[in-house]
Amino acid sequence: MKADELKNALEAVRVVPVIDPKCQDQCLSAVDALVAGGATTIEITLRSELAIDTLRACRLRHPDIILGAGSVMDPMTYDIAVEAGADFTISPGRCSDLESYTAGKNVAHVPGVVTPSEIIEARKSGQRLLKFYPSEAAGGASALKDLGRIFPDVMMMPSGGIKRSMLAGYSSLPGVLSVGGSWMYADGGEYLGPEEIREAMTSSIEEMRRL
Ligand code: 3PG
Repeated sequence: MKADELKNALEAVRVVPVIDPKCQDQCLSAVDALVAGGATTIEITLRSELAIDTLRACRLRHPDIILGAGSVMDPMTYDIAVEAGADFTISPGRCSDLESYTAGKNVAHVPGVVTPSEIIEARKSGQRLLKFYPSEAAGGASALKDLGRIFPDVMMMPSGGIKRSMLAGYSSLPGVLSVGGSWMYADGGEYLGPEEIREAMTSSIEEMRRL
């Protein structure tokens, strides 16, 4: 999907579970519960051998959700992710070769930024949808509030260290499109039960709804 389509979808449901799968069955069960709780977009990070097979399995099991492939930093991994069924790819930082490669393609790539200089450079390349990572370590909602004043034409997808109790700080910021992370399905690395996941997903979406 193109960046504009992704923007529209995230505007409706502003919470993106980000999963670094350690076990395919565990990840798929969590995805089932997240979807039951209202998740429409899920990111699977490609940081392990297992991840691409898990992304593919997720695609087969949930053909209608929007699947992002995370930690994609080069054209080869982008192609693998697209072949496995990713609707978009996303990276923790700027990757100029990948951004050139994906320009104009139907599967959008979302680059990562932290600093004003990186945002300025990304805008010069026509990128208006950006990941803000690692959000909490880089100042979280208070940094995004300042950046939003300077770059009102940029929409951010912050993730990294975000917890449920922090959502209120992000939800009202006009430049924050969505928030991502693991808080809604895991706690301290341990996966929650399906009912807890469903409830955490539903309540997080509710909290991020624009008033
Ligand atoms: C990411 O890639 O965005 C992070 O892995 C998010 O996970 P966290 O919520 O556990 O920091």
